[in-house]
Amino acid sequence: MSNITAGITGVQGFLPEDILTNHDLSKIVDTSDEWITTRTGIKERRIMKNGASSDMAANAVEGLLKKTNTNPEDVELVILATVTPDYPFPSTANVLCDKLGMKNAWGFDLIAACSGFIYGISTGAQFIETGKYKKVIVVGVDKMSSIIDYEDRTTCVIFGDGAGAVMLEPNNEGLGIIDFILRSDGSGRNHLLQPAGGSKNPASYDTVEKRMHFVKQEGKQVFKFAVTNMAEISAEIMERNNLSSDDVDWLVPHQANLRIIDATANRMGLSKDKVMINIQNYGNTTAGTLPLCLWDYEKQLKKGDTLILSAFGGGFTWGAVYIKWLYNT
Ligand code: UT7
Repeated sequence: MSNITAGITGVQGFLPEDILTNHDLSKIVDTSDEWITTRTGIKERRIMKNGASSDMAANAVEGLLKKTNTNPEDVELVILATVTPDYPFPSTANVLCDKLGMKNAWGFDLIAACSGFIYGISTGAQFIETGKYKKVIVVGVDKMSSIIDYEDRTTCVIFGDGAGAVMLEPNNEGLGIIDFILRSDGSGRNHLLQPAGGSKNPASYDTVEKRMHFVKQEGKQVFKFAVTNMAEISAEIMERNNLSSDDVDWLVPHQANLRIIDATANRMGLSKDKVMINIQNYGNTTAGTLPLCLWDYEKQLKKGDTLILSAFGGGFTWGAVYIKWLYNT
């Protein structure tokens, strides 16, 4: 094994300006601020009224390039995690590279729903650890409002739009991505999905009429799997790296539901002050939640801090990543 680890050397987020509050939603569907707050922890979410996922990604990555003092032509690989690409093809990673002049990079989109970012950084890290590349960008972006049915109260209150991006670079001090555990179980596919628009159910009058291009979720079922799997995988990565709850400085959990976050923190033995939470402001931005948490909490992170990133999402997909933070802000 090489001594090179992949460290996060910068993080940047982007959130569209328009805010959709619980109160706004209560005027559209039969819901209330009280129900949404107590069941999910969400107060408001952002909506991208004009523009696509690549526009949110471009905003985040442009800021990231500036912040890390990176020439766009030096970027070698872009991994873009999303379930709301600009088009089925070409990939949104391609579009993004063109928009920002990352002429020497190749890239691809990665579909792992809410686990997209942890799948993405684990994949990107391999190219750094082998010594092949020096600059890899991983983006988590979703314009969930483009696939949400604002007549379905069980899903429209949960999701929002946003993007976050990190730069991965080599590190020789043993900091960066130390370990990851990633899992998937396709038998869960019917519990959370966008049924139409792919090759199984191509777009037709029928699919539009049946509202099959919108997200469908069996919330209760997904909740059960999410609570168990996110908590267990977070505990598993701690055990396998001999980390006690005192050793962990931060849990960075996918922001799907405050109750799932609490259950995961409890299983890990962590107090609330060690848990990154921004679900109240942005809702569930799917692949965007984890980099947006890192961005919001960046100023509080110190070199050498131990972070556990943990996620669960459609597929099912889930996993945890153990990171030693690389820099003081
Ligand atoms: O990020 C990817 C992974 N996704 C997740 O992790 C999400 C997991 N699931 C959840 O977070 C929760 O299941 C939800 C937030 C989606 C729903 O919360 P819940 O506590 O599981 O509610 P429920 O689905 O059991 O519904 C309870 C009641 C139902 O009414 P009845 O049948 O008891 O009369 C629903 O019809 O709440 C009703 N309900 C609502 N009421 C007001 C469902 N949605 C709403 C709503 N406003 N927006």
